[in-house]
Amino acid sequence: MLDTNHMLEYTQPVKADLEEFNRKLNGYLRGDTPLISSIARHLLKTRGKRIRPAFLFLSSRAGGNFTEFSVDASLAIELIHTATLLHDDVVDESDLRRGQETVNAQWTNLISVLMGDYLFAKAFRIMVEAQSMELMRAISAATERVSVGELRQIEEIGNYDLSEDEYVTIIADKTASLFAVSCETGSILRQKLPSERHRFATFGEKIGTAFQIADDLLDFIGDAEVTGKEPGNDVLTGKMTLPLIYSLRNVGKATRAEIISILKNHDDGNDTFERVYGFVSETGGIDYAYDKARRLCEQGLDSISKVGDSVYLDSLAGMVEFTTTRAS
Ligand code: IPE
Ligand code: IPE
Ligand code: MG
Ligand code: MG
Repeated sequence: MLDTNHMLEYTQPVKADLEEFNRKLNGYLRGDTPLISSIARHLLKTRGKRIRPAFLFLSSRAGGNFTEFSVDASLAIELIHTATLLHDDVVDESDLRRGQETVNAQWTNLISVLMGDYLFAKAFRIMVEAQSMELMRAISAATERVSVGELRQIEEIGNYDLSEDEYVTIIADKTASLFAVSCETGSILRQKLPSERHRFATFGEKIGTAFQIADDLLDFIGDAEVTGKEPGNDVLTGKMTLPLIYSLRNVGKATRAEIISILKNHDDGNDTFERVYGFVSETGGIDYAYDKARRLCEQGLDSISKVGDSVYLDSLAGMVEFTTTRAS
């Protein structure tokens, strides 16, 4: 929780935008039926970080591209993000999200999937309000990429040979896509030159990729009290992430075979996660993933280096720092 406060420092310049976002979100999630209302209350009780809206507002204002439709665009993207989490927690069989029971745990998988669909539908309706065909195209394409990424990830479950490039493509699709579209929304709404739009999209793409690498690192080193999610899930479900990809690539055949055998043959309740974590940290996988996230952050900031100085640009730099050093 401390950590989210840390992010608050950087979102100060767009505090009013975020307040309007929250006000409107509360209104949209009031609910059409008692079931929808109680799930919506559950979702609003412990809020997420709102990191995509924060990037959307800061990027828009840094580029002088904030418009009367910016808040609606951020709402659409955050609702899509929330919908993907409702689906993701079913896929990952997760019981904990934002420090409370997931919708699939408190209700059922079926309800979580259908509530996700409901939020998707709401998001697309709100998006229409922004009256920008180009924005609709961009947000739809990003949403498609999220699905492609999640499906690709399922295809690769248990593939211990997954390469770093393949991993990066998957996380860019499933996660960076919504960051990229958040960061380019301002330029789209203001119909700026493709070069400017591209700069902001690249910024979001790099930062979003770094964000997911950091998230995957938290699955190894995170504290459930702070992340609000159970660590060790990825290792125990056969999901390959960067620390393990790196470490398996850099050890001898015998060690590699031994670790893969532990990964393949584990039973719940044994010390598989501790052993794999020990292996990954001793062989430099944790450090390597942090370095990679940091490099992506630098590249991201480079891509917006031509944007004029402002308090918003300073805050974006702070947000980028938060992306890789966060504990939640
Ligand atoms: C969680 O996203 C899913 C990932 C892409 C890693 P966030 O960490 O932004 O989730 P909330 O909205 O703050 O809970
Ligand atoms: C991110 O994937 C979720 C989506 C992009 C839909 P993860 O499965 O890694 O996210 P967490 O750790 O559950 O938040
Ligand atoms: Mg997942
Ligand atoms: Mg998950």
